[in-house]
Amino acid sequence: MKLRLGFLASHGGSNVQAILDACREGRLEAEPCVVISNNSDAMVLDRAMEARVPAFHLSSHIHPDPARLDEAILATLEKHRVNLIVLAGYMKKLGPKTLARYRGRVLNIHPALLPKHGGQGMYGHHVHEAVLAAGEKESGATVHIADAEYDEGRILAQKKVPVKPDDTPDRLAERVLEVEHQLYAETLQHIARGDIKLDGL
Ligand code: GRF
Repeated sequence: MKLRLGFLASHGGSNVQAILDACREGRLEAEPCVVISNNSDAMVLDRAMEARVPAFHLSSHIHPDPARLDEAILATLEKHRVNLIVLAGYMKKLGPKTLARYRGRVLNIHPALLPKHGGQGMYGHHVHEAVLAAGEKESGATVHIADAEYDEGRILAQKKVPVKPDDTPDRLAERVLEVEHQLYAETLQHIARGDIKLDGL
């Protein structure tokens, strides 16, 4: 079955961009179908429009009732016939209806080697600060299935980077982000090829 990707992202969307590029260049056999952001001024919406992918701002500003927001997100994904959700720096939780409809078909990327350094509050620079504080010799990126809990679903793929003695959170973040861009597209291609099997695909 051809992958039909629906992205949710809150900010810059460099991971979304890497995946859009991989699709355009034929390294990833998948169709980017829709991009949704909870921030109306997120750069990811511009990136989507540039790539001629439908882009929507859906947030609690538009739908203050969380149940309505959940329904609006689900309706948007279904309207664009998305069969796999790609979370890429999405700072909100998916609602129960969307999660139930797409259970096992929601991917997330985390900027550390899960199961270490994940969970509530572990996002952005907090992750890299924790990795440095723990004295880790290596970090990396993890693509995993997202479920109702933070960062706890099945791990699909990881890529490692070294932690250097003079690293700052920013320097480490930059090194990790580079491998995130490779890892997300590669993992999606493994799914597209059937090398990684997901329930319901
Ligand atoms: C990435 O570090 C990702 O691991 C995390 O959020 C960041 C998103 O970056 N979940 P971008 O918006 O894709 O540039």
